[in-house]
Amino acid sequence: MPLQNDRLLRALARQPVDRTPVWLMRQAGRFLPEYRATRARAGSFMGLATNPELACEVTLQPVQRFALDAAIVFSDILTIPDAMGLGLSFETGEGPRFARPVRSNADIAKLAVPDMDTELRYVMDAVRLIRRELGGKVPLIGFSGSPFTLACYMVEGSGSDNFARVKMLALDDPAALHRLLDVVSEAVIAYLAAQRAAGAQALMVFDTWGGTLAPHLYREFSLRYLTRIAQTLARGEGSERTPLILFGKGNAPYLEDLAASGAEGIGVDWTVSLAEARVRCAGKVAIQGNLDPSTLYASPDAIRREVRRTLDSYGPGPGHVFNLGHGLAPDMDPEHVRVLVDAVHEFSAQ
Ligand code: CP3
Repeated sequence: MPLQNDRLLRALARQPVDRTPVWLMRQAGRFLPEYRATRARAGSFMGLATNPELACEVTLQPVQRFALDAAIVFSDILTIPDAMGLGLSFETGEGPRFARPVRSNADIAKLAVPDMDTELRYVMDAVRLIRRELGGKVPLIGFSGSPFTLACYMVEGSGSDNFARVKMLALDDPAALHRLLDVVSEAVIAYLAAQRAAGAQALMVFDTWGGTLAPHLYREFSLRYLTRIAQTLARGEGSERTPLILFGKGNAPYLEDLAASGAEGIGVDWTVSLAEARVRCAGKVAIQGNLDPSTLYASPDAIRREVRRTLDSYGPGPGHVFNLGHGLAPDMDPEHVRVLVDAVHEFSAQ
């Protein structure tokens, strides 16, 4: 099935495009009434994520409604720890929770890389089905959490204001945290490779919490494992290569290191200008980002102005994938999202 819209893949390969490609983190989510309807039918978030037909349906919803240049498989980063036996659930209004968090060396020793053909088969089935149903309309992105971000949830057992337990472990028993990150990294690499084999055409790693670490700890516990993934994940050669994007909240201090990691693209938040990010990445990678999601609460005029400013900040030439600097929120107006997507295409065509 030939790809009808290859803007994303061309931009990630730093080749010229007719318009800047745009997709949005959390584009399949609660801000869409059609998502909320499917989610209600599924009964729970995991009921939705583990059902390939329903996961496919919600993946396609934003691509049908808006002129987006990519789809992202509907799943979650916490599928890996769930498959490792931690017992994931989502309490309404509370976010994710693990029944059996990782709290001791014995807990770490018990962890093993899950089997992609059995324990995580539902994700691969969803990828295969989505690829078929997309029919080449836009490329499909597969994803994983970063090892450090997954470790944050695994050790804490839930979300947290400060992830104190994992930071305590980094200082009091660094060898134990490295053992944990080691097995999680191997799982991430196997997971991304399996999504690629199932049909994912680009891959992304979400490092949501690495940026909360002090620089020496970021390098030791987050960057090191991101680099390992970028270096060892087999993803083809030349025009067959499946690009890898490393996104990190608060990763601006480390752009030179990330650009040298071996990844094809770096995703940045809005605390750095694209002009600066581009200079510091020195043409080694494509750059994805970086509009502040809160911009979507403002008026359509303001949204259009900010889109133009973001495009101008990157400047002319290839290698930009437009995105937000973090995910869409449930209370955002779908019509404002449309204004954003259309403005990216309108202004970047000029
Ligand atoms: O981007 C997409 O459209 C693809 C789907 C996707 C989801 N989660 C669906 C989801 C992706 C890429 C993720 C990644 C994810 N999940 C991250 C990294 C990205 C980021 O935001 O920094 C993290 C940290 C998680 C963990 C997670 N999953 C949390 C904290 C929550 C609860 C959040 C909340 O708002 O309730 C989830 C649940 C979740 N994952 C939802 C969605 C659409 C909402 C749950 C629901 O529908 O009930």
